[in-house]
Amino acid sequence: MPVSFYDFKRLHSVELQKNALLLFSEIIEQNSYIDGKYNKIFETEFAKHQQAKHCILVANGTDAIELALEAKNIGTGDKVGIPGITFHATAEAVLNRGAEPVLIDVDPLTGLISIDSLKRILSHTFLKAIIPVHIYGLPAPISKLEQICRPRGITIIEDGAQAHGTLLDDGEENLERGDLKPVGSSDNLTTFSFYPTKNLGAFGDAGAILTQSDDDAQKLLSLRNHGRSSRGLQFFGRNSRCDHFQAAILYLKLPSLKEHNKRRTEIAGQYLQLLSSSLPELGLPGKNFLHSSSWHLFPILLKNREQKLRLKDHLERKQIASTLFYERSLGEERPLLDIPGERTLSTSFAEKVLCLPIHPCLEEDEVTEVVEGIKEFLA
Ligand SMILES: Cc1ncc(COP(=O)(O)O)c(C=O)c1O
Repeated sequence: MPVSFYDFKRLHSVELQKNALLLFSEIIEQNSYIDGKYNKIFETEFAKHQQAKHCILVANGTDAIELALEAKNIGTGDKVGIPGITFHATAEAVLNRGAEPVLIDVDPLTGLISIDSLKRILSHTFLKAIIPVHIYGLPAPISKLEQICRPRGITIIEDGAQAHGTLLDDGEENLERGDLKPVGSSDNLTTFSFYPTKNLGAFGDAGAILTQSDDDAQKLLSLRNHGRSSRGLQFFGRNSRCDHFQAAILYLKLPSLKEHNKRRTEIAGQYLQLLSSSLPELGLPGKNFLHSSSWHLFPILLKNREQKLRLKDHLERKQIASTLFYERSLGEERPLLDIPGERTLSTSFAEKVLCLPIHPCLEEDEVTEVVEGIKEFLA
């Protein structure tokens, strides 16, 4: 049975398409293409969903990081710590600001930013900011990072591109789902991408920045719209507006996010249960993430690169999709070979990691098919 990595045909049902076309007609009839009614409704609703005071929609998730850095006056010559496991847009945004990325190593089992590596780097390098990434939808240890960064005046910008609905959790003992708050609820600027494959995806590009600060929100509103403000032009910004069509789709899809994340969590639970007999042959995300991750992706760790590629081939022959997120750690990407920092664990993580299908329309028998394919390979 073929198993695909994403399934937009199932996700974008006939009913969703019908409703989307109704919204598109309304927008066209009203000639309201930029910053329209659905931009405002979505901004209010998404801020509420993630427990932030403000949501500022922008053109994409990379702009969101760049604008967040700009709002915090981080630019030319400033050093910004980023984890070695992330989509390279995190580094790109830092470089586009004229700032210098410094690699922080990651936890060997999750790919999340390592507290120990950050502490070591701070013992000899001053960082103006760090950008922890909630990679795969798993929560980065934000309150531990805040304890380190706040006294030193280091700005934290959370890259939540993969974390719509993720709950913040530093791995404290005995916390229940109800005790946890979502990504976006902290006092840090938090950025999101609504690229179509994300847990909440537009029909094109879109992104957002969440903040609790009225001042940061005002600055970001101005920066995304050429520096315009009610007080006239105070500084130049850029065009990073999110168009009304995309906002309307996000408005339409937001109510399904909770249900979709719940389904992703069920699938993650199934994978964890069915693959547990293959431990320690395989590395799996801890069960403790079942109550906090948005399960944007489901990463497993093989012994080495060769075994990982052989498993990928094996699954491919059975028409089961799997993906290399990420084929290389940031420090191995050609434009980033010379950036400073720590990279050993990130390199080894990227060598071993393979992501399994986990979209919300995946059926139970498809999950079983993936698991059987893996077990067959390991046997
Ligand atoms: C971790 C991470 N950061 C940043 C981005 C950039 O978002 P976008 O593609 O919307 O610019 C992405 C998305 O692809 C991402 O996964």
